[in-house]
Amino acid sequence: MSKEINTIAVLTSGGDAPGMNACIRAVVRTGLAAGKTVKGIRRGYAGLLDEDIFDMSAKSVSDTLQRGGTILGTARCLEFKQPEVQQRAASICNKHGIDGIVVIGGDGSFQGAEKLASFGVNTIGVPGTIDLDIACTDYTIGFDTAVNTAMEAIDKIRDTSTSHERCSIIEVMGRKAGYIAEWCGIANGAEEILTYEEYDHDENRIIENIKHMRRIGKKHFIIVNAEGVGDSENMAKRIQEATGMETRATIIGHIQRGGSPTATDRVYASLMGAKAVDLLCEGKSNRVVALKHGELVDFDINEALKMQKTLDPYMVDVSKRLSR
Ligand code: ADP
Ligand code: F6P
Repeated sequence: MSKEINTIAVLTSGGDAPGMNACIRAVVRTGLAAGKTVKGIRRGYAGLLDEDIFDMSAKSVSDTLQRGGTILGTARCLEFKQPEVQQRAASICNKHGIDGIVVIGGDGSFQGAEKLASFGVNTIGVPGTIDLDIACTDYTIGFDTAVNTAMEAIDKIRDTSTSHERCSIIEVMGRKAGYIAEWCGIANGAEEILTYEEYDHDENRIIENIKHMRRIGKKHFIIVNAEGVGDSENMAKRIQEATGMETRATIIGHIQRGGSPTATDRVYASLMGAKAVDLLCEGKSNRVVALKHGELVDFDINEALKMQKTLDPYMVDVSKRLSR
């Protein structure tokens, strides 16, 4: 028999992502509309262990939809990997009358959510990461905003690169996933896209390509480098030395994690937050909300964590053809 849910809590965990506030707002407002008490937990699992828990009202999420970051704060809480700590967290939920939790975060956060579920707290994960590296879903909160932020930055670098006839190596985020790099590479018309998944580390090929492009009159050479590949500064030195083309490295960094979310991030984050509440109200637990082929669906967390995905080979192929 499924447990009746009276009180829902929401937390954000791992790296923040633009759109997390839209999701929190949706959890709060749809939870309240369903007649539930809604509580916020500050600083992810760390705040849960510190009992940093407070009641949320419709007003407490006013004026947050358009803001980047997360109003709840977030943390990486390594001690949460210990079973005794997870059990303590479940007891804290019981103490505060929390029957269900919405965890907005990435794969790591979902592993924590799965553990909470195993200790009797109904949990629903919502994919929130700029990296897009959650296998069960085609969309993660924050990716669209991050890509647009990086794209605009690369456009600006391209302007000055062209004026000075330089090669620019631009490092984007994504941990070990090349989605931001691949999207920016296509959106910015990069000559090279180096991703952890695809890069063969053949720098000589890149050098020969730069020389060829210069001979045929190209005024810039844009390399989008995913951070998983790394070493942009040293690569710039080596390329300048080998090609004679002035080369600069720019690491875009945390600017990609902030800023006002795009419409896509606001809307899907809102839908996913509402879906998480609907699942809890149906008595579901240990599920992840996902967007698959344009449809909102949900998966068992354990199944979701076992799934794998990689860059779309067609997208990779097209990006190569476009860069010639
Ligand atoms: P993300 O959720 O974006 O993947 P992390 O991998 O940093 O980010 O994980 C966020 C948090 O989730 C961690 O700091 C920890 O509190 C929790 N977490 C990660 N892995 C586990 C695990 N194996 N078991 C329990 N909790 C975990
Ligand atoms: O997971 C999001 C992300 O921004 C990654 O792209 C990046 O590798 C990492 O987090 C950076 O983490 P931190 O904010 O701890 O430097």
